[in-house]
Amino acid sequence: MELERLARVLGQANEDYHASDAPTISDAEYDRLKQRNAEIEAAFPALKRPDSPSHQIGAPVSEKFAKVKHRVRMLSLGNAFSDEDVLDFDKGVRRYLGLSDTDVLQFTAEPKIDGLSLSLRYEAGALVSATTRGDGETGENVTQNARMIADIPKSLNGASEVLEVRGEVYMSHADFADLNTRQEKRDEKPFANPRNAAAGSLRQLDARITKSRPLHFFAYAWGEMSEPLGKTQTAAIVRLNNLGFSTNDLTKTCRTPAEMLQHYQSIEEQRATLGYDIDGVVYKVDDLALQARLGFRSTTPRWAIAHKFPAEIAHTTLEAIEIQVGRTGALSPVARLKPVTVGGVVVSNATLHNEDYIAGRDSKGAAIREGRDIRVGDWVEVYRAGDVIPKVRDVDLSKRKAEAQPYVFPTVCPECGSPAIREEGDSVARCSGGLICPAQAVEKLKHFVSRAAFDIEGLGAKQVEFFYGDTDLAIREPADIFTLARRDETNLGKLKNRDGWGETSASNLFAAIEEKREIPLNRLIFALGIRHVGESTGSLLANHYGSWTKFGLAMDAAQAHEGVEWDELLSIDGVGSVMATALVDSFHTPDNRAAIDRLTAELDVQDVEVADTSGSPVAGKTVVFTGTLEQMTRAEAKARAEAMGAKVSGSVSKKTDYVVAGPGAGSKAKKAAELGVSILSEEEWLAMIAQ
Ligand code: IVH
Repeated sequence: MELERLARVLGQANEDYHASDAPTISDAEYDRLKQRNAEIEAAFPALKRPDSPSHQIGAPVSEKFAKVKHRVRMLSLGNAFSDEDVLDFDKGVRRYLGLSDTDVLQFTAEPKIDGLSLSLRYEAGALVSATTRGDGETGENVTQNARMIADIPKSLNGASEVLEVRGEVYMSHADFADLNTRQEKRDEKPFANPRNAAAGSLRQLDARITKSRPLHFFAYAWGEMSEPLGKTQTAAIVRLNNLGFSTNDLTKTCRTPAEMLQHYQSIEEQRATLGYDIDGVVYKVDDLALQARLGFRSTTPRWAIAHKFPAEIAHTTLEAIEIQVGRTGALSPVARLKPVTVGGVVVSNATLHNEDYIAGRDSKGAAIREGRDIRVGDWVEVYRAGDVIPKVRDVDLSKRKAEAQPYVFPTVCPECGSPAIREEGDSVARCSGGLICPAQAVEKLKHFVSRAAFDIEGLGAKQVEFFYGDTDLAIREPADIFTLARRDETNLGKLKNRDGWGETSASNLFAAIEEKREIPLNRLIFALGIRHVGESTGSLLANHYGSWTKFGLAMDAAQAHEGVEWDELLSIDGVGSVMATALVDSFHTPDNRAAIDRLTAELDVQDVEVADTSGSPVAGKTVVFTGTLEQMTRAEAKARAEAMGAKVSGSVSKKTDYVVAGPGAGSKAKKAAELGVSILSEEEWLAMIAQ
């Protein structure tokens, strides 16, 4: 019968295409057969075969993209939202480098493309791999698909032995409109915007689909290289262009911040007619030697910034205010809006921040929006900047109905009924129910499995909700995730028999969970969802303590908020007393502590891989800088010391190995002398690290 024949022919074609890279039928013929199969199935659903080719759109799970670790991390950019932010960026770079206001400092300015970034690796001139950004450390191998993009050269003439070129994959407005027309004709869901369409097209398991969707690529950066591309950003971009890459024509070298802002304005004026989406302008320090000196913060370079275009706005009616309870118990008001299009995306929810914001005042009680409060039924102004969640900005009082009532913020948690308490100095009210509040527990779990935390494939927000409500296979706390497979084995109501699950999806989930039993320390710390402890704090703490055991012991020993371990925690640059209190207290809360212990009993927490600083004379040493440094700024001194494996602390103690004292050093140098800690001049320090 025909369906059987189609399954056989298409299956074979797939295998030929993927396995041997030697297609046996043309793309057009493949599409035609697939279409025919879909039509028959639509007319006779009962005849659909278990091995139907229509199931294979997403292809078998085993064929998912392989994970690739980036040799040089793929970072994101810090943001500037105003001219003032840009001037501050220029000042900050000068300060870091110790340049005066009059020293020449050139920047490049270029459009920020709204697509997805991709890293292309060339060896001996041949394209060997293409990897998506992923979480910046590890991406997905999409080489086959990248080969379908005309802008991406498959080979380079005269390139160095190793060259990783980075840039943005995007879809033009015209191609996006065409694609959505085709999607609708095929009764498939249209894409919300060109970026989603580009991402969906690049991450296709079937490279033929990628091929049928025209994608473009602009090169603007690089990763590993066996030889530099030039001395300046400008020269490097010209070189990439000469090698055959598309680079953006609107890239300009600017000599002053005024020129940068002027170019920003000019790009903004051209935005509507470019034919592709951009969401701002990126400025980069032009001199690559200076870029190297500036280096990186935890996730962003110091030498570049994205100047975002202003948010898009729209007006609509506020239909209701609902309260969501977050993982730290915060009660967040959400506006339910009459759907409205803001910058090409339909928006029906927006944040209202907190109680004060609705009432028309800031956290200190000063008026915002000239004191106008926001009420259900009001005509409101909504805005959206890039990826950011839409926000309600203002209200039109002339359209307010006479019967509109001021909004009364709840005093109990709408999810568990516990009192909602707003502590002094906190801008939000929080549910006091802790782990008994289902909303908090679910949100904590969602955070735990999120991308920067455990990132468990197949266990996202939706699945967390599914398992939270389950009886036999309940996941109520993180440890339950790792006992799921064991419980499934002894359970009668097996996961594979549940609605929406099957043999493959269940075993894939168990495998994905198993894979994450081994977890880097920084991810675990972040995943715990402790207030004030974000991704970069997770890394700071992990780098400082090195292992879960040491970290746990230190948190226990710091419980009294005093003593050596408490001081040590506070001495970490980036850890303040609010954060330290939240951390230590969360380990001290008995229920919470027990849940953490149950979790870590299931895990194999990886110690921090210490960067290879063997041979560095200061590896593992604790250094304090004090007084004025003359050869470099404090920030640069710190960054260099850390890169060589030293710990930089703000205060002198018995644990300090060296105090580097410049002119004007005061109490710290004195304390060092009292404690018998070695005191070095800046020259002595530089001589020591130069060894
Ligand atoms: S430079 C070290 N230049 O913006 C950072 N990024 O928000 C190198 N992007 O992940 C990035 N246009 O995907 C750079 N002209 C441009 C860009 C650009 C778009 C993206 C990129 C990055 C994101 C950061």
